[in-house]
Amino acid sequence: MTALLEGRSAIVTGAGRGIGRAIAEALAAEGASVIVADVGASISGDGGDPEPAHEVAKAIDEKQGGKKAMAFTESVASPGIAKQLVDIAVRNFGGIDIVVNNAAILRDAFVFRADPRDWDAVIRNNLSAAFYLINAASAVMRDQGKSGRGGAGGYDWGRIVNIVSSAGLYGNLGQAAYASAKAGLFGLTRVTAMDLQRANITANAVAPFAKTRVTDIIQPANEAQKTYKERALKIGAHHVANLVTSLCSPAGKAITGQLLGVRGREVFLFSQPRPVGKLDVTTPETMAEDLIGKLGGQFTDMTTDLEAFNTEPLV
Ligand SMILES: NC(=O)c1ccc[n+]([C@@H]2O[C@H](COP(=O)([O-])OP(=O)(O)OC[C@H]3O[C@@H](n4cnc5c(N)ncnc54)[C@H](O)[C@@H]3O)[C@@H](O)[C@H]2O)c1
Repeated sequence: MTALLEGRSAIVTGAGRGIGRAIAEALAAEGASVIVADVGASISGDGGDPEPAHEVAKAIDEKQGGKKAMAFTESVASPGIAKQLVDIAVRNFGGIDIVVNNAAILRDAFVFRADPRDWDAVIRNNLSAAFYLINAASAVMRDQGKSGRGGAGGYDWGRIVNIVSSAGLYGNLGQAAYASAKAGLFGLTRVTAMDLQRANITANAVAPFAKTRVTDIIQPANEAQKTYKERALKIGAHHVANLVTSLCSPAGKAITGQLLGVRGREVFLFSQPRPVGKLDVTTPETMAEDLIGKLGGQFTDMTTDLEAFNTEPLV
């Protein structure tokens, strides 16, 4: 049986460990050549260590029995570096077909205590970096369409997957920067899907749940968080990798602009914000009362993402 992604070239950011590693390994197992892009930073984005990216690239090559993977160890949070990364894929693998924006950092603090410098770092790292890479890679993907990559049937290989978070959809205490970056990444996914639809390039967002060093260090603040952590630690990252691989597969070409979640063997399709109620405009004096009276039953509750997904996982 032919591998699903034979002949394709992929970049996975943050692939030196955790969910990114599982995704890079799964794409390579289906025949893709993969750039393992990881600066080797701490959870908060400090420091740098080339070792994890090199180790993952080596492990992929050993497993796949050939030169399928390359390590890239610069931070992807700059437009120039994103362009370099795409150039490396084109030079070494003949093009770029799959981009997975998975790298992220966390600098949590209550909104009334947060340091604006941490906000800037998180937005640059978790949102702007994804834009830089999509910007650089999608231009090349479109040209590949014109130059015949993908075969006689035309180019329908382009796949962009942005790893978001339920924190950006529901919100979570103390995660202003992280949740805002992830919500922004979902907005970027929608527009990317629209801008690239005519070029047969898909873009989807995936909210994952998996045991990684990030779930390992959760300090439960209450019983609900303690149970959440115990449950999260049972979920392997390979489930996320399976979904991403399937979105990148030939059949995945019919899926674009979607927001999916994956938690063990459960895959969720999320709704996207649309009006759920309507009020004929009244005056400022009465509008709040009218909103409560007529639409209050449909107000969104204040459930955090940890509460919303605090159920026993299917693993
Ligand atoms: N683990 C979960 O349950 C969970 C839940 C929701 C969302 N996510 C998302 O999944 C993704 C992966 O999370 P994880 O738990 O595997 O994280 P992780 O911290 O284990 O790994 C992230 C990797 O990204 C790398 N990285 C960070 N910034 C980088 C940069 N600028 N350039 C290159 N590499 C960079 C880090 O060095 C690290 O190796 C993230 O986007 C995260 O927000 C994870």
